[in-house]
Amino acid sequence: MNLYPIFSDFLSAEKLDLDVKTLALECNRLKNKKTSRYISNVGGYQTTITFEDLTENLQNLKRIILNYCNIIHKELGFKGEQYMDEMWLNINQKGNSNELHNHVGYFFSGVFYIQTDSKSGCIKFENTNIANQFTFSDNLVEKYNCYNSKKYSIQPEENMLLIFPSWLSHYVLPSESQKDRISIAFNTLVNYINKD
Ligand SMILES: [Fe+2]
Repeated sequence: MNLYPIFSDFLSAEKLDLDVKTLALECNRLKNKKTSRYISNVGGYQTTITFEDLTENLQNLKRIILNYCNIIHKELGFKGEQYMDEMWLNINQKGNSNELHNHVGYFFSGVFYIQTDSKSGCIKFENTNIANQFTFSDNLVEKYNCYNSKKYSIQPEENMLLIFPSWLSHYVLPSESQKDRISIAFNTLVNYINKD
């Protein structure tokens, strides 16, 4: 039998080795300086990270994220080079969550976890093939795989970097932790000049 996927989404999960304790201090400093914006967050704090906010540590994180994005970009067979369009800080406290949303209009999106524990809400992704939601129930599934899964869940860990296509819908479950769930999210775009 010659069975293979014909369309696919991806998720990249890398464990980095950054000084998350110092990054957490810098993020809390930002929180004390700037008021929150409200987009997908239900409660919690969210603010754009501007050029002026970039400490040496955040600048380093940005460089590492872009490096991974461009490695994946090439691996997936795309031309051009990705650049960071925006980064923002999320601090969810107990009970805070993020509603189902995607980042359509960008190319790759992702999140780096600075402070989490086992009770910080997990991030859940939805299969872009929404037809399967109406075609079969989970009772029919013997073993989950990329053909029959409707959702994919990740429990965040400190120093974990997730990268996924911006069109992939996702949401964050309410945190049940006493500890602030601190993360930095981002969107990239592509620089490409057609020389043909
Ligand atoms: Fe998001």
